[in-house]
Amino acid sequence: MYLCVVASLLLIVTARETESVSPCPVKSFIWGPGLNPKIVLPARYFYVQTVDSLGHNFTSSPGENVFQVKIFAPGEQHSRIWVQVLDRKDGSFIVRYRMYASYQKLQIEVKVKDVHVAKSPYVLEGPVYHESCECPESRPSEWLRHMKCPKSIPQIQHDLQLFQTVDLDRIAKEIPSRFGQRQSLCHYVIKHNKVYLKTYGEHVGFHIFMDAILLSLIRKVKMPDVEFFVNLGDWPLEKRNPGKNLHPIFSWCGSNETRDIVMPTYDLTESVLETMGRVSLDMSRFNLLERKGQSEERLELVKLARQHPHLIDSQLYGPLVKQISFFDFFKYKYQLNIDGTVAAYRLPYLLASDSVVLKQDSIYYEHFYNDLRPWMHYIPLKSDLSDLLEKIQWAKENDEEAKKIAQNAQEFARSNLMGDHIFCYYFLLFQEYASLQVNEPKVRDGMEVVEQPKDDLFPCACPTELVCCNPLKFLFQWAYHGYQRVGW
Ligand SMILES: *[C@@H]1O[C@H](CO)[C@@H](O)[C@H](O)[C@H]1NC(C)=O
Ligand SMILES: *[C@@H]1O[C@H](CO)[C@@H](O)[C@H](O)[C@H]1NC(C)=O
Repeated sequence: MYLCVVASLLLIVTARETESVSPCPVKSFIWGPGLNPKIVLPARYFYVQTVDSLGHNFTSSPGENVFQVKIFAPGEQHSRIWVQVLDRKDGSFIVRYRMYASYQKLQIEVKVKDVHVAKSPYVLEGPVYHESCECPESRPSEWLRHMKCPKSIPQIQHDLQLFQTVDLDRIAKEIPSRFGQRQSLCHYVIKHNKVYLKTYGEHVGFHIFMDAILLSLIRKVKMPDVEFFVNLGDWPLEKRNPGKNLHPIFSWCGSNETRDIVMPTYDLTESVLETMGRVSLDMSRFNLLERKGQSEERLELVKLARQHPHLIDSQLYGPLVKQISFFDFFKYKYQLNIDGTVAAYRLPYLLASDSVVLKQDSIYYEHFYNDLRPWMHYIPLKSDLSDLLEKIQWAKENDEEAKKIAQNAQEFARSNLMGDHIFCYYFLLFQEYASLQVNEPKVRDGMEVVEQPKDDLFPCACPTELVCCNPLKFLFQWAYHGYQRVGW
């Protein structure tokens, strides 16, 4: 407090008009899920808003290295935690950290020079689990509460309302025979918090994304027993009309013309699971496709076009432009979101940027599109793009409005597309779907267990539950876990 008062006095006495207002540590804000030990995320995060000595929020960067962040486990020699401070250039920062081991206690310090910011230091009373730790919360309602998940999600209600009930024995036969030959499908069962899988079709490499999110969920929370089919292809599959023996199929992309149940895309899901493991926002989509061996055809077309530009009708399309990295997109003020094969899965990243998005109207959508409003979160474009120049002209002439739209979009991404929101979406989706099942999910013929990755260097020990009432169980647990405990 002392520092800020002095600073503001100086300000009044000396240069009232100067722009060199300095951040006031005690008046600044820190908030976010990364301060709650019970919110286990691959990358935990929290926000810092810079406030000046007069109590005004900064609206532009106070300088990249203004805040020093230290995150450590008190009493441990080495804390295996990777911290990243990202300047959002609007006066706020996002601090992300990834833990590689679990700790009994965690301390988070945010300072300006030597002065603590807001209520720093934050002490997180553990256990504070890292991502690979498998200690699921046995009470889903508790997990939902800690995660601050919404009670319901309109898109989920919308997708599931077409299904009064789900007869698992029937779909286990009908879906593979209807789609199993020509499509890439996964048949999943989650039973007693274990994941089982059988794949159908040729290009099934993408199941690793679905496996990864399911394994991550069961590490965090006791999932309902559930049995379902995931479409690994680009296009949604269920084209039948409501009432005509619809089959519930989970897809990454939905459309007005199909009845598939949408989930967050594999790309967004991967970015949540791998945050800080891969370069943030750099989707490397083409590398990804090459690696996973799907959509080869499309990739070939792109390659072909680049190797043989003369094959492209430049009269019609203009000359081929140089490919630019996804990072460099954000040097530009206006971003176009135009469908690829289906919805362009880059929209979340474009919204999160400080550019304004011009979005093509389309029958295709991702799980969150129905919450977006034209002119609020993006500038709408006709599906044939005939109004493109007109809309760009509008944006140029209405700079303030365009900026406001960009800010709304960024705010939307912050409040709806971060890791915690994606975990909530998946959990609520499976919970709602499970309530429609009229028979017990079964581990079917040919299914295999999907194992947790074994490469974790720092295993964790889960607290033993209710040992009080069963001395024999206590003895057993002590005998096992007494030795197994590693780290704390
Ligand atoms: C300043 O930022 C904080 C954090 O985003 C916000 O809660 C608060 O309303 C802002 N204050 C003003 C006056 O805009
Ligand atoms: C599909 O839905 C979008 C979003 O609601 C809408 O803008 C578009 O007009 C619809 N298209 C068709 C063909 O119904």
